[in-house]
Amino acid sequence: MPSQRKKMEKFVSGLMARMTLEEKIGQLNLVTPGGASVTGAVVNEGVEEKIHNGLVGGMFGVGSLADVIKIQDLAVHGSRLGIPILFGSDVIHGYRTTFPVPLGLSCSWNMELIEKTARIAAVEASAAGLRWTFSPMVDIARDPRWGRVAEGGGEDPFLGSRIAESMVRGYQGDDLSQPDTLLACVKHFALYGAAEGGREYNTVDMSPIRMHESYLPPYKAAIDAGCGTLMAAFNDVNGVPATADRSMLTDLLRGKWGFDGFVVTDYTAINEMTAHGVGDLQTVSARALKAGTDMDMVGEGFLTTLQKSLAEGKIRKSDIDAACRRVLEAKYKLGLFDDPFRGLSEEHAAGVQVCPEHRAAAYEAATESCVLLKNGNETLPLKKSEKIALIGPLADDQVNLLGTWSIAGDRRDVVTVLDGIKRRQEGDGAVLYARGSNITDDPVLRDRLNVFSPKDKPEEWQVTADPRSPDEMIAEAVAAAKDSDVVVMVVGEAKEHAGECSSRTELDIPESQRKLMEAVKATGKKLVLVVMSGRPLTLNWEETNADAILFAWHGGVEAGNAIAGLLFGERNPSGKLTMSFPRNVGQIPVYYEQKHTGRPLAEGKEYEKFKSCYIDAPNTPLFPFGYGLSYTTFDYSPVRLNKTALRGRETLEASVTITNTGKYAGAEVAQLYITDPVASIARPVKSLKGFQKIFLEPGEAREVTFEITPELLKFYNEKLRLDWESGEFIIQIGTSSEQVQSATVNWQKEAPKRQLQTQPDVH
Ligand code: NOJ
Repeated sequence: MPSQRKKMEKFVSGLMARMTLEEKIGQLNLVTPGGASVTGAVVNEGVEEKIHNGLVGGMFGVGSLADVIKIQDLAVHGSRLGIPILFGSDVIHGYRTTFPVPLGLSCSWNMELIEKTARIAAVEASAAGLRWTFSPMVDIARDPRWGRVAEGGGEDPFLGSRIAESMVRGYQGDDLSQPDTLLACVKHFALYGAAEGGREYNTVDMSPIRMHESYLPPYKAAIDAGCGTLMAAFNDVNGVPATADRSMLTDLLRGKWGFDGFVVTDYTAINEMTAHGVGDLQTVSARALKAGTDMDMVGEGFLTTLQKSLAEGKIRKSDIDAACRRVLEAKYKLGLFDDPFRGLSEEHAAGVQVCPEHRAAAYEAATESCVLLKNGNETLPLKKSEKIALIGPLADDQVNLLGTWSIAGDRRDVVTVLDGIKRRQEGDGAVLYARGSNITDDPVLRDRLNVFSPKDKPEEWQVTADPRSPDEMIAEAVAAAKDSDVVVMVVGEAKEHAGECSSRTELDIPESQRKLMEAVKATGKKLVLVVMSGRPLTLNWEETNADAILFAWHGGVEAGNAIAGLLFGERNPSGKLTMSFPRNVGQIPVYYEQKHTGRPLAEGKEYEKFKSCYIDAPNTPLFPFGYGLSYTTFDYSPVRLNKTALRGRETLEASVTITNTGKYAGAEVAQLYITDPVASIARPVKSLKGFQKIFLEPGEAREVTFEITPELLKFYNEKLRLDWESGEFIIQIGTSSEQVQSATVNWQKEAPKRQLQTQPDVH
């Protein structure tokens, strides 16, 4: 056993020997006091007294550094054993420096950049006294009705795994005991993204093969990267609430994957098991603990029932000890027992929040997240000398650009699109701004979207109702459009259209904005749409009617600068979609890694009788996974292979030459997909197995090589064993999941030795 670990175990054992049963259960109690950022339906009472009595292990939703210091002081100097509290928060896409929502950031396909955003988040959040983030959220999501798609990395397990690793590395750094790190918490284990109908908190029913192949890899990748904690999901999987699923939380997570951190529940998830219908609070609390849950978020089921369950023999003392040990070990690893106040000062905190370096990273992140969906007749980039009509309810908006889960974000830090354009025009051209419409005119929806808006601060409202009538607003916008050379409309969702408990059944841009777009379109002016949202939207009208579409997500504090920079061609869009954009809601789930079916449509066909298709829409999405345009063009050579016949554990090298054939410098994400056309079970039409983002000057060509080992050919077979099978494999490299160059190899497994020996001698 390495001496570090020994030292920790000795320390924790010594401490636990002095703890009462009550104090041990206290370490399993995670509370939120209310008042600052409240992220659930209830908050805890009597928190100070509980801290004094050693009944609080962790805390989140604490508003300021001063409060953290005050509360920590109470724990360390005002409780019997002085055990420090672990302070957490939902630091999801940056802290005060807010980056694009994670789904947007994933479209950068830039792992160093993603890691950097997590590192910056750790520096800022730890300066505010926090040492634990409830991130990364790595739930694979193939249903854009679900609002929480905004928080994850999209639909693909391979890409999702790389993002998971990058974020864990960024948060935790090389040495968790340094004061500028955050303990990461991968969530929501498991399969939260597969909720039926995209309805929040809904049930999940899934086959074991799909679960292992498509949904579990990113959680495992986070664990393999050293992620210190894991959050169980709200949902049930095949009838078992995730919070009480021993086969997942203990057998798989700790047994097979070797996870040695602690498991926290989601918000009141233990209590919610009574609503799932699996028992009263005492029963479900005992069940959660025995399943492998260590810390109880907010619900205090552990605090109020575990002693009774122990007395009644429903749990063992060793169950409580194991959970308590894991929580204390996490605190030890963070260095909290050495000095929980290390590095904390108001000066330091003020110095790091949204400092120029962090802002520069936010600009990069917002720039690389934008996806150019259409650019007819090279409408973009715009010339600075052009007279621009800038129209739309999000064109001069700060609040919504922060995106969902921007708990520490401050709207005053946000550069709007109007600001970004004005800063760049410097008197060259002109910008005529008109709001044109409200985000929505539906008063019921408006209240739901303003759920986190303080009633007395209208400037913080996400959705406001302009005192003018819709017609008046549209008339102003149309007049501006008529007087311009080009119209840029900034439209889309409010930040709380997406995120927790923001499922939608329609994915169109809200009606008030559609009416505005139609009226502006009727002017006949060139129309550029900048669409902001936290999820894929259905954009048929927009795709038909706009000359160009830049999909900008909710881009964070530098969104306005990044978007203006892209519109004027200071930078070239390079984002690629990480979730397919459906044509309509009826197509959902639509994702690229689908199976063939026994009656596949012929290539290029939209409909054939007695084939797997719809009579009223194509099977394909409007914009596929991996898709994204550039101001320049990239040419892909045919795929070159170093071998076409391989045996056993050889390595295949597959290369293409990519040439920038246009007139702008730009970045391209080359994507590797593999198809296993014949196997013992039906396999997907293709699966992402690699990607590289490269930058090319105009005219420049670069060879991109992927190394392919049998590891990348493996899949879960009928016996749920991860293995590969001999045969042909189609190697595809291209610019999106739908546009690839391909070549075929034959790859044979060597016969296992044991089998050779037992085979009859045929000679
Ligand atoms: C509920 C959410 O599901 C989870 O992601 C979050 O971390 C907790 N609330 C705490 O805010």
